[in-house]
Amino acid sequence: MVRLASSARPSRLRDVSSLRFNSTLASAAYTAPTSQDVSTSKTAEELNPIDRRRLESMLRVDHAGEVAANTIYAAQARVFSSIMGDAKTAKMCEEMWETEKKHLAVAKRLLDQHRTRPSFLMPVWGAAGSVLGSATALLGKEAAMACTEAVETVIGEHYDDQLQHLSRMEEAHPSLKLLSRVIVEFRDDELEHLDTAVEHDAQQAPAHALLSAIIGFGCKGAIQIAKRL
Ligand SMILES: [Fe+2]
Ligand SMILES: [Fe+2]
Repeated sequence: MVRLASSARPSRLRDVSSLRFNSTLASAAYTAPTSQDVSTSKTAEELNPIDRRRLESMLRVDHAGEVAANTIYAAQARVFSSIMGDAKTAKMCEEMWETEKKHLAVAKRLLDQHRTRPSFLMPVWGAAGSVLGSATALLGKEAAMACTEAVETVIGEHYDDQLQHLSRMEEAHPSLKLLSRVIVEFRDDELEHLDTAVEHDAQQAPAHALLSAIIGFGCKGAIQIAKRL
């Protein structure tokens, strides 16, 4: 897949090292399993209480974020196809939504595997995503792309933070090594969405800097809440 020149990305996300070391996607262990093993069927019982809480909070916030991503792209695809009459942008949103459907399916499997409860605020995350997706799509293609650019920037950084924590924990259990590889894959997918948005005029959105700041601030706040609740 073609990746946009890294100069379009925020500095923190440039030249991120990739752990995607073979052609098989890590998520296939969940979406197309050929066999069951401890990395996909057991949780890391050996973790100390602090790391256990950290793992649960990671999985909870990732699941909540993927729910919101699904509702953002679903709402944008709906508005572009049925209200704005822009089939091309609707198709682009649908394609990004397809990736988010996979992310969500895997995030749900990870919650079950690691016996972690979802966020108490699931209806809020879903509704917030729908409102954000609809509102930005109604403002036009550039605003919808600016929304993707802002959201995926925050999510890319968020996944990078998780990888740093996991690098200190992953020797404890094979499931954590696999989780790292899944997060690398998802982070790279989110950065491709970011590249797509910039290629399609995100930065020409009206009041781009303000819109990005508001959406980015909202995403960061939601991450902090979903980690705990
Ligand atoms: Fe995602
Ligand atoms: Fe994404």
